[in-house]
Amino acid sequence: MSDPSRPVQGPARTIGVTPADLDEAAAILVGGGLVAMPTETVYGLAADATNGRAIAAIYTAKGRPAFNPLISHVASVAMAETCGEITPLSRALIERFWPGPLTLVVRRLADCPVSELATAGLPSIALRMPRHAAALGLIERVGRPLAAPSANRSESLSPTTARHVADSLGDRIGLILDGGPCEAGIESTIIALDGSGPVLLRPGAIARTEIESVAGALASPEAKAGLLAPGMMRRHYAPDATLRLNARDVREGEAFLAFGPPPIGVTPSLNLSDRGDIEEAAANLFAMLRRLDLQFGAIAVAEIPHRGVGEGINDRLHKGAAKKYLDGV
Ligand code: TXA
Ligand code: MG
Repeated sequence: MSDPSRPVQGPARTIGVTPADLDEAAAILVGGGLVAMPTETVYGLAADATNGRAIAAIYTAKGRPAFNPLISHVASVAMAETCGEITPLSRALIERFWPGPLTLVVRRLADCPVSELATAGLPSIALRMPRHAAALGLIERVGRPLAAPSANRSESLSPTTARHVADSLGDRIGLILDGGPCEAGIESTIIALDGSGPVLLRPGAIARTEIESVAGALASPEAKAGLLAPGMMRRHYAPDATLRLNARDVREGEAFLAFGPPPIGVTPSLNLSDRGDIEEAAANLFAMLRRLDLQFGAIAVAEIPHRGVGEGINDRLHKGAAKKYLDGV
């Protein structure tokens, strides 16, 4: 007999984001299955956050270490309030940035319905209300928070199209919702609010300066010993090709990924943004790295300015360039 709490295995079917498509996806999630969904940042691999077996299936499909916790996605502030402690500072950030690409790590409530596997046994929980209509519609239909890491195999490039998801996880999941290319292209900004001042755990789609205009200066995670920070695993967001950063020339066998006008004499293989628009570059980052990764063993990347979402782009590039970390993950 088939077990309804066992996720459907691939090959994945890709459907759209019509109300009927969302109904179908919600039924799979309620039954404990996995669905890849679009968000405004990257595609997520969603499961009912309150179902421990479904969460375990996410870790298996991604090949992700179970000590790396997941973000719980909510469709309302009220839903967030059933999971975590919303302090006045959290509320101010929520009012300004939700729905949108801001994840808040807050104290987990004692009666939080989310599986402890999703929060990796931590006393905190990561909460985000996405602004993509399909993601919101899906959470509303299920009526519970959805845990969703980026829908790629652990350590590899995050997906910004349904095709990327199919390429990476198509043989491991049953259903992909195709909502077109993601608007932001890099993941949410993650802020920890544990009472002693806000900490920037992961730079992302909302620039540090925007968050600081509401929250004041953000500390860096290194300042907080013992805090489990995302991407503390050094290699993350990595293509198979070697990355050489801040490149001003192109060497034998390399692709050149430009930003703005290329150095004299260099013909770019691809350009993150011809006109030097940092947000356009973020939206193109993962898709262009994927394309070059298919053809080249090495990618030289032009210097990317640190302004705005440039901090997030540089974070992804540095993690992608790190040599594989011999810690078994
Ligand atoms: O834009 C995004 O955030 C996307 C979309 C799908 O929403 N999601 C995403 O999830 O990037 P993921 O799992 O790839 O990255 C979430 C990061 C992980 O690195 C994890 O370590 C961190 O959030 N995280 C989750 N819960 C945490 C917690 N309680 N404390 C500290 N870090 C946490
Ligand atoms: Mg990820």
